[in-house]
Amino acid sequence: MKTQSHNEWQNFCAFWLQQGYVVVEEWHDAKWANATLAQSGQHVWLRMRKSDEKVTAAQLDKFMYSLESQQDQQLIGCMASSKGFTKAAITQVTREAPERLVLLTEHKQKVVSAYPFTQFSESQAIAASAPAYVGVFTAKGGVGKTTIAAHLAGAFALMGQSVVLLDLDPDQNLRKLFAQENQPELAELHVPAVNKHEAGAMIRVLTPEQWRESQYPDVRIVIADCSPVLSENPIKLVKRMDVCLMPTSLNPLGISKHGDVIQRTFAHIRSINQKARLLAVINQFDASKAFQERNDVLLAYLQSALTDYLKQDELATLIHPDEAKIRYSHALLYWGFHIIEGSAPQLAFKLTGGRSYPRSDFLQLADVVEHTLASSKT
Ligand SMILES: Nc1ncnc2c1ncn2[C@@H]1O[C@H](COP(=O)(O)OP(=O)(O)OP(=O)(O)O)[C@@H](O)[C@H]1O
Ligand SMILES: [Mg+2]
Repeated sequence: MKTQSHNEWQNFCAFWLQQGYVVVEEWHDAKWANATLAQSGQHVWLRMRKSDEKVTAAQLDKFMYSLESQQDQQLIGCMASSKGFTKAAITQVTREAPERLVLLTEHKQKVVSAYPFTQFSESQAIAASAPAYVGVFTAKGGVGKTTIAAHLAGAFALMGQSVVLLDLDPDQNLRKLFAQENQPELAELHVPAVNKHEAGAMIRVLTPEQWRESQYPDVRIVIADCSPVLSENPIKLVKRMDVCLMPTSLNPLGISKHGDVIQRTFAHIRSINQKARLLAVINQFDASKAFQERNDVLLAYLQSALTDYLKQDELATLIHPDEAKIRYSHALLYWGFHIIEGSAPQLAFKLTGGRSYPRSDFLQLADVVEHTLASSKT
């Protein structure tokens, strides 16, 4: 291990040793250092990220999943990272409030707990002066653009950031989805904060004509639900995009067509905007173990269909499902039923059995978007 991460590892181990634990087993690989520690029948699995980057919501989710599948139901999981945790990762655990999880980080060379003692003082990657622009595009209808635009806005709002959603689709689905019951001309949703004493955040749906940066100084992120007819999207806005997301899916009949659609959409945006990061994200993913092999095959197929384009555009990527994907869910399938019922606008983040797939998936996607925005600024 490099000296720096060796020292960090020693500090995190010392945190538990000082509480009377002893190391039972230690194992390392290139990215992670691990140990199990024990004290009178109680065990801790300490896992430290050896990296210069924060631990993401996806990495934390994987760790929590491994913890749940352990035989020892009393095992405490302790994820440690001297660089800390992304805002999405902290938001996710604070919402789910798992009892057997501890997150440790370092502050002024001292080990401190980021969870259960929530630490919200972390600076945000998007705390820049001008808002960041994210467009959700594809040259194909019905792939989940509106669903993704709305819930990505929801994930940023959960993290305390107010968002403007620009409705560029002539169908104006976003406007309908967020219209207030008694004031249909007003399309917005207030998302309560994770911490009760914080104010929460607003999602406002606007047309490009209504949107003025100077009128919404609290808005650091703008997400546009774009028209599937690519030429209908205002060129001025396409030029302004920092990140463009392309939803796609892994179904065998459509896979080569999806490759074509992504390349066509990427090439169209690139002809207008040379600096935007282009990210294809898999929607309607089935993460059950039974389909893992098929998904791997389909993913390899999609990757190879995109190889030619990706080789010549280094700012374009297919997000690997391990980093972020949107799973198929009934919550998303029936999202929007409130329009039929005439009830108040809402997101598909409701918990079932203490969990919400859409919520963790969109927090992970927000993580990838934030990371991409931060790295595009450097
Ligand atoms: N991950 C998912 N799981 C289940 N259903 C989904 C998921 N994503 C999207 N859907 C469903 O697919 C349908 C199409 O999604 P959506 O309207 O967001 O696509 P779109 O690309 O905006 O379509 P259009 O081009 O017509 O605007 C919706 O009924 C939505 O509920
Ligand atoms: Mg739509």
